[in-house]
Amino acid sequence: MEVVIAPVAELAVLAADAVDALLRRKPTAVLGLATGSSPLRVYDELARRHDEEGLSFDRARGFMLDEYVGLTVDHPQRYRNVIERVIASRVGWDPAAVRGPDGLADDLPAACAAYEQEIAAAGGVDVQLLGIGTDGHIAFNEPGSSLASRTRIKTLTEQTRADNARFFDGDVDRVPRHCLTEGLGTIMEARHLVLLATGRGKAEAVHHLVEGPISALWPATIIQMHPHATVLVDDAAACRLQLADYYRQTYRNKPAWQSL
Ligand code: GLP
Repeated sequence: MEVVIAPVAELAVLAADAVDALLRRKPTAVLGLATGSSPLRVYDELARRHDEEGLSFDRARGFMLDEYVGLTVDHPQRYRNVIERVIASRVGWDPAAVRGPDGLADDLPAACAAYEQEIAAAGGVDVQLLGIGTDGHIAFNEPGSSLASRTRIKTLTEQTRADNARFFDGDVDRVPRHCLTEGLGTIMEARHLVLLATGRGKAEAVHHLVEGPISALWPATIIQMHPHATVLVDDAAACRLQLADYYRQTYRNKPAWQSL
């Protein structure tokens, strides 16, 4: 696991660099897309590079991590609509090339199984962007999730519903109770994981993620087992890392030829 501690703007550029390099090397790349506020600056940077530097998403495909169950097709917080707004429409991505679990399916378990098959049929995810919840979830794999889980229905914790109420006019009662989410086993199959976390509110989750024992209580800890995981954090999110000085020193002395 590589841990980079840097200012927020620099983190976004680093994550965008990883996507940019992938798309130029492999125009048919499969990108794993996260919602939440953490990747927004990355999407801004990718949209800028699309507009100003000719970065093309035309042949790429996207797979979303998760989706709320039951939000109507036109609901602004339906993750399908969020992703369309924050990235897909800004880089001229064909809506059909971006897929997500179907939170409106009559048969939700079947929709989850179909989603797994779609990801596999696309050849798997090349770069997976991730945020982290304050309770240590990635995608919507809440504490207690099986470390080998696949796409399935999950019940959101009250903590996550309270955290996400800000996207629902501050009204926790409007935050759905259920979601469909890629499992931890699904996420672990992506070839490169890029996780972003900023702000003091993420410090405890980041501490567990990077230095804690691997445990279903802090689901993000499973990425310690990934052969290519990059964790991008600002000073505030890094404030509880025991080896912070070592991570800083490593990044400062990183050979120029070595990319993320
Ligand atoms: C949400 C999403 C996650 C996201 C997390 C953190 O619940 N399902 O994919 O990483 O919360 O969100 P934020 O980046 O807004 O802090």
